[in-house]
Amino acid sequence: MMTAGQTGFCPPMGWNSWNTFTWDINEDLIRQVADVFVAEGYRDAGYEYIVIDDCWSLKERDAKGNLVADPEKFPGGMKALADYIHDKGLKFGMYSCAGTHTCAGYPGSFEHEFEDARQFAEWGVDYLKYDYCYKPRTMDGELLYRRMALALRNSGRDILFSACNWGEDNVHGWIRSAGAHMYRSTGDIQDNWESIKKIALSQIDKMSYTGSFCHNDMDMLVVGMHGGSNNDFIGKIGGCTDAEYRTHFALWCMMGSPLMIGCDVREADEATKAVLLNPDLIRISQDPESRGSYVVNPEPQWLGNSGCFVLVRVLSDGELAIGFFNLGEGRREIPLQFWDLGITYGCGAALSLYDCFGQKELGSFRERFAATVESHDCLILRGRLQYDG
Ligand code: GLA
Repeated sequence: MMTAGQTGFCPPMGWNSWNTFTWDINEDLIRQVADVFVAEGYRDAGYEYIVIDDCWSLKERDAKGNLVADPEKFPGGMKALADYIHDKGLKFGMYSCAGTHTCAGYPGSFEHEFEDARQFAEWGVDYLKYDYCYKPRTMDGELLYRRMALALRNSGRDILFSACNWGEDNVHGWIRSAGAHMYRSTGDIQDNWESIKKIALSQIDKMSYTGSFCHNDMDMLVVGMHGGSNNDFIGKIGGCTDAEYRTHFALWCMMGSPLMIGCDVREADEATKAVLLNPDLIRISQDPESRGSYVVNPEPQWLGNSGCFVLVRVLSDGELAIGFFNLGEGRREIPLQFWDLGITYGCGAALSLYDCFGQKELGSFRERFAATVESHDCLILRGRLQYDG
């Protein structure tokens, strides 16, 4: 029987090196991230995978055709690093590509799928992110993802398969059957509000393509980066406000995306930690049934194109996660009529509401709740039905 805790059952949670460090990675950094995960409560909050992204290998395979970890960046080798991570009660992730080369020009796994999967298994890898650069034009993406999924399956190790084809080739239509546990559905995220908003809005009508065993990956989190990337594209300056990062995290939780932290957790400030470690938001993300959320009464007349909407996710214990989002400009009142949830006055129920970021009970409401939400901010509630008598 499948249970929570089984690979890919809930949206995976962890950290990935790419957003902040891109090419500038090494084993000390990875060890330090693992240390921080334990010391500062990330592991206990549910974050488990520590993933090395692109740029970890030499530019050439060895004479036998094996991938070789860059000895300057990883002098102790990948097996020792995996052991270190496992000893901390965490899991180890690595990266390769369905094409001949990775996006940064290192060897990819095209036509090396089975030997590479064996190699990853020998090193103790628990998670493989699999990119889409330099894929021969005539090769079918579905076939290549299926081939690597089979190779991992035959590697002798339980390895989570994270597909990364940026939403191309209608991936949402075939990736579940190809065997991925999560799949990137958009281009690369950037550390700015427009990027967060664009990704979230592009996936709102794709909620039927995410769920247990295969989760829609809206890309790694930029929460807490504050312009800290070493890469111009991702964002070296500015970043987002705390409210924008909070809204980003809430959207990813409500919409069932994996939660892969992209900031330098060694330097994370208190506001960042309060968002990433919020137990109520993580509980919504990790709800065992991984249901998609739905938009309540999309674009009602009085909200127009304001960028305001309400998302609802029905949780497995019967409670409702309700997110009031204001992605537009200026403070707005966002009303929710309970009949739109199927909770009419006639059914005799009230909703007892709890504010997940404010961590306080708001009281019991009938028929309607209206949230006043600042620009680029959100209010995330849990609602419990209460019946008279
Ligand atoms: C692609 C992926 C990113 C990252 C880089 C590495 O752009 O979408 O997430 O893995 O490649 O080169």
